[in-house]
Amino acid sequence: MSVLKAQGLTKVYGTKGKMVYKALEDIHLDIQKGEFVGVMGPSGSGKTTLLNILATIDKATSGKVEINGTDPASLDNKKLALFRRRELGFIFQDFNLLDTLSIKENIILPLVLENAHVNEIETRLNTSADLLNISHILHKRTYEVSGGQKQRAAIARAMIHKPAILLADELTGNLDSKSAKDVMDSLKDLNEQMGATIMMVTHDPFAASYCKRIVFIKDGKFFSEIRRGTNRQAFFQQILDSLSVLGGNFDEVSPARG
Ligand SMILES: Nc1ncnc2c1ncn2[C@@H]1O[C@H](COP(=O)(O)OP(=O)(O)OP(=O)(O)O)[C@@H](O)[C@H]1O
Ligand SMILES: [Mg+2]
Repeated sequence: MSVLKAQGLTKVYGTKGKMVYKALEDIHLDIQKGEFVGVMGPSGSGKTTLLNILATIDKATSGKVEINGTDPASLDNKKLALFRRRELGFIFQDFNLLDTLSIKENIILPLVLENAHVNEIETRLNTSADLLNISHILHKRTYEVSGGQKQRAAIARAMIHKPAILLADELTGNLDSKSAKDVMDSLKDLNEQMGATIMMVTHDPFAASYCKRIVFIKDGKFFSEIRRGTNRQAFFQQILDSLSVLGGNFDEVSPARG
């Protein structure tokens, strides 16, 4: 079953009469339920532009997006806001947690906004906190926990309402290598044990090696695609090879870890 379908996405920046810039050109993407897809490409290749369009934050100049059978472009603003809240989960580089709330309050926010029942909130909170290994820090404030713990709390918040797809932009970008590994292990568990569908944009080949499929883009266009076998180390090497073929500017190519 297709959770996300993008057809012929093109994004042109600029206004009439001015210099225009084609940030995306004819991108096709089909993400099936339970997939874990990475998007990689040199700086400026259009990764964030693509993610923002799929996240319904930005609109494509042409082409079509379908998420769980709905074209977000067909919704008015009010319906779109609801659609985003229910069908999508976001994970950001800088966590985006609210510092005035505890970790628990941050995580359950999407359910509170939906007026979910207290028992259901507690059950879902405990399940995700268990899986993400953050049960012991739920009562803490955001400034009392590590970056890796913050990001795992952000992942719990992104998935607690069971969205159709989780979208992440450089989620390990602000983490040291140990925390990045913990976060990626958690994301992998989420994908494998709960069947979460995930798409993440990343510069980091180590983080990318946790994905099951990587789509490479260059200059806004599809470049290549690789799929992981059973061995993550071998996939990591395959990713490095693809990146060297891709060329361009990677500011964060890290040595092998874990
Ligand atoms: N609002 C905008 N107006 C004009 N051009 C833009 C705008 N946003 C992005 N661009 C251009 O579109 C291209 C793609 O940008 P995008 O941010 O999608 O790249 P990226 O692959 O995410 O890069 P990075 O790896 O550095 O985050 C870049 O050349 C960028 O300068
Ligand atoms: Mg970007």
